[in-house]
Amino acid sequence: MAWETEHKRLDPGTVLAGVAAGIADPLKARYYVAMHDLPLAGRETVGQPVGTLMLTTEWSDWRNGWWWWIQSVYVDPGHRRQGVFAALYRHVREQALAVPDVLGLRLYVEQDNKAALRTYEALGMRDAGYRLLAETFERPAG
Ligand SMILES: CC(C)(COP(=O)(O)OP(=O)(O)OC[C@H]1O[C@@H](n2cnc3c(N)ncnc32)[C@H](O)[C@@H]1OP(=O)(O)O)[C@@H](O)C(=O)NCCC(=O)NCCS
Repeated sequence: MAWETEHKRLDPGTVLAGVAAGIADPLKARYYVAMHDLPLAGRETVGQPVGTLMLTTEWSDWRNGWWWWIQSVYVDPGHRRQGVFAALYRHVREQALAVPDVLGLRLYVEQDNKAALRTYEALGMRDAGYRLLAETFERPAG
């Protein structure tokens, strides 16, 4: 995903540790994986992972509630335009709507990532009018 969307090569060890830490601690993140059922012999099926997203949360004192942030969105290229992300989004949206103090869903997206922008807009998301600024610290590896 990093390569496709931002032409960035990530360090595999760091990513693996980051995903493992996110899965291990629900306060850090929650992962959702869309599975496609592949038929086996007889009536059995096996699930093939075809898309994923990660959720994080942000507390809003202005509104006394939580924003749920959608991050790390990726659908396998061979399964795009088949409603995989739409299904993940609807699922997360339903879960968010069921929690009274969740204000809504947010995400950030590279401004040149037109496919992702169109996808989010097609699902009802709108530009929230903010610019994203950051100062990234240079930390020694390890
Ligand atoms: C963006 C991405 C997640 C979309 O996933 P997807 O499963 O193919 O999306 P869906 O099939 O659910 O599409 C839902 C709707 O979004 C819109 N859409 C999706 N892909 C689009 C594209 N390439 N161009 C224009 N509109 C698109 C369409 O309206 C689509 O409905 P339709 O197919 O009935 O016309 C996928 O292309 C992807 O993984 N891209 C690479 C990683 C990435 O960019 N991640 C986001 C980083 S912020």
